[in-house]
Amino acid sequence: MTDRPSPSKRVHVRTWGCQMNVYDSARMTDALAPLGYAPTDQVEAADMVVLNTCHIREKAAEKVFSELGRLRLLKRARAAEGRRLIIAVAGCVAQAEGVALLERAPYVDIVIGPQATHRLPALVRRAEAGERALLDLEFPPESKFDELPEAAGPQPASFGGVTAFLTVQEGCDKFCSFCVVPYTRGAEYSRPAAAVLAEARQLVAAGAREITLLGQNVNAYHGEGPDGRPWRLSRLIRALAELEGLFRIRYTTSHPRDFMAEHGGDVDLIAAHRDVPQLMPFLHLPVQSGSDAVLRAMNRRHSADDYFRLVDALRAARPDLALSSDFIVGHPGETEADFAATLALVRRVGFAQAFSFKFSPRPGTPAAEARNPVPEPEKDRRLHELQALLRDQQAAFAASLIGRVIPVLVLEPGRHPGQMVGRSPWLQPVHATLPATLAGEIVPLRITAAHPNSLAGEALSPAAQRNAA
Ligand code: SAH
Ligand code: SF4
Ligand code: F3S
Repeated sequence: MTDRPSPSKRVHVRTWGCQMNVYDSARMTDALAPLGYAPTDQVEAADMVVLNTCHIREKAAEKVFSELGRLRLLKRARAAEGRRLIIAVAGCVAQAEGVALLERAPYVDIVIGPQATHRLPALVRRAEAGERALLDLEFPPESKFDELPEAAGPQPASFGGVTAFLTVQEGCDKFCSFCVVPYTRGAEYSRPAAAVLAEARQLVAAGAREITLLGQNVNAYHGEGPDGRPWRLSRLIRALAELEGLFRIRYTTSHPRDFMAEHGGDVDLIAAHRDVPQLMPFLHLPVQSGSDAVLRAMNRRHSADDYFRLVDALRAARPDLALSSDFIVGHPGETEADFAATLALVRRVGFAQAFSFKFSPRPGTPAAEARNPVPEPEKDRRLHELQALLRDQQAAFAASLIGRVIPVLVLEPGRHPGQMVGRSPWLQPVHATLPATLAGEIVPLRITAAHPNSLAGEALSPAAQRNAA
């Protein structure tokens, strides 16, 4: 250690995985501020590095170890200069690997699970005092969310964007055959509605105009309402829609089952898409497969027909609703006919966007033990074919917007001078020449071109603007 009084310390946080990790990373950064840590994008400038990790597929988890290899060298170089680099591994790899991670990477100072993030500052203090190999993988009876307002203060540094994530639910009780989430994030937990509404008010006061409610099973939400009785997600959304200044509401990720009456789902959420104009007409609703046999093997507990019925009901409620999904190809036992059923489902529904993956066996999950794996080249072929179809659908959806005037939420300056980036109702980035003062506002833009992952738009003439309004 040097004798000079240390300037403000810097923390570099890297995030993999889902939006819930993005949310957790922001909260961890906020929680470290009182300890004197300011965030930095530069790993070389950091006194502490937090890797917030994802365990969902083998590739995601392996990236963490290659990153750790680099950090080990950085830490060694620092030590030679008499300076310290604290390395913390958080998130789902931390939870899944635990002690094994410390054995494999003994230079890691802190391993902390996703349910313990609020205790990170305490561990950092101990690491600063010279303690090593600190491990916290508890699923505490108290919730990490209980400490949020205190830790974050009245105006947390991570607040202030035009769009914001707000975690309302965490964990999963569904145990799909392939998935690690129930093991890494634990059982389903919903935050009380009052806490969610308070955080939403804080976000809006800090400038948020669009909030995305997050949960591994967000539509399984059943948080305690102000009346002491559980609120469903639809009720929460209807309450959020009362907030002045909140223009747009989204939620992700939903499970088809939690929309279905026969599973005790939130059927009113379908009606909310009709009744609540702030609720955006875009829904990420993973189906994984179009084959009933595979859906059964996956323990999804709904059929392809259930999905079709649900999509029809949602589209009846909100005709401009566009859909997105996740797909897995090559789940153990998936035949050519099963895969054809997935293609047929995609053709029938029509997706504006989608994520698709090759099945990746994950330690501890039932599907990893299955005796009927699909050969790797076959998985590759199926993924290719599916992705080509999904790409075409995405392009067709984007092209259908050309010439139309759509409401765009203006976010921030784009790459070119004078250009701003906004967001369409369907989550597409839209580039247009606009004054920067429009950030945070919704403006009607005419779409002039569709690129693979974004749209180009232009402002309307004043007369056209009056007509659009
Ligand atoms: N809760 C969400 C999904 C969370 S994980 C849901 O139920 O739909 C995000 C996506 O990763 C999943 O939808 C699935 O498509 C994919 N995924 C999860 N485990 C996987 C595995 N073992 N191999 C390949 N893809 C996987
Ligand atoms: Fe994983 Fe299934 Fe839970 Fe989604 S519903 S998080 S895929 S176990
Ligand atoms: Fe990954 Fe954990 Fe999210 S495994 S997808 S970071 S819940």
